[in-house]
Amino acid sequence: MAFFIDSSEPKEIKELFAWGVLCGVTTNPLIIAREAPDADLGERIREILAVSTGDVSVELTTETEGEMLEEAAGYHAWDPARICIKVPMGETGLRVVHALTKRGVKTNMTCLMAMNQAYLAALAGATYVSIFSGRVRDMGYDVRPVITGTRALLDREKLASKIIVGSMRHLMDVNEALECGAHIPTVTPPILRKMVWNPRTIETVNEFNTAWRNRSKKQLP
Ligand code: E4P
Repeated sequence: MAFFIDSSEPKEIKELFAWGVLCGVTTNPLIIAREAPDADLGERIREILAVSTGDVSVELTTETEGEMLEEAAGYHAWDPARICIKVPMGETGLRVVHALTKRGVKTNMTCLMAMNQAYLAALAGATYVSIFSGRVRDMGYDVRPVITGTRALLDREKLASKIIVGSMRHLMDVNEALECGAHIPTVTPPILRKMVWNPRTIETVNEFNTAWRNRSKKQLP
């Protein structure tokens, strides 16, 4: 178990990969439009590939099967071993995931709000099924049974898909995703940084370091 980073910011991604807790990157059109509206997508993704390891998810933005497969082929060529094609859930999306799977291309079926969707994505062959925690909660539903149920179903049916839980708004969302059986939480840089922080830890480290700085010479061994 490790985390994916939900970001398209190469500098941030490089810094956070140095912690040794990340094993991949997820992006989506909204993230890239927010973080780098004028960037060339190919250049941006190549920069991300250069500072990370593991799978890098790039989402399709076209909407017909033919266009989506063509768009996917373009992204896949950037790094066939590491590019994972993120495909939005839908009837066309399922056909695209299945076609890409048959060609040996990794896929991440995204925008999943329910266990039935995640099950279909897994049956179609998706490498990853991405459940959107915050967006499920935005609708007033509890995401925990979605994650727990999906994990139980994948295990029972021996389906190979891994569950990504994204759309994290709070630390509690991460903890719950882990408890409920998510294989990989994908977290934004601010959430990952919040996971480190604890006031009692800071206080304790300060107490130790202050004691060391103020020690008298005679106390030294
Ligand atoms: C996951 O892969 C998505 O990129 C992301 O977590 C979506 O989050 P949002 O609901 O904050 O847009």
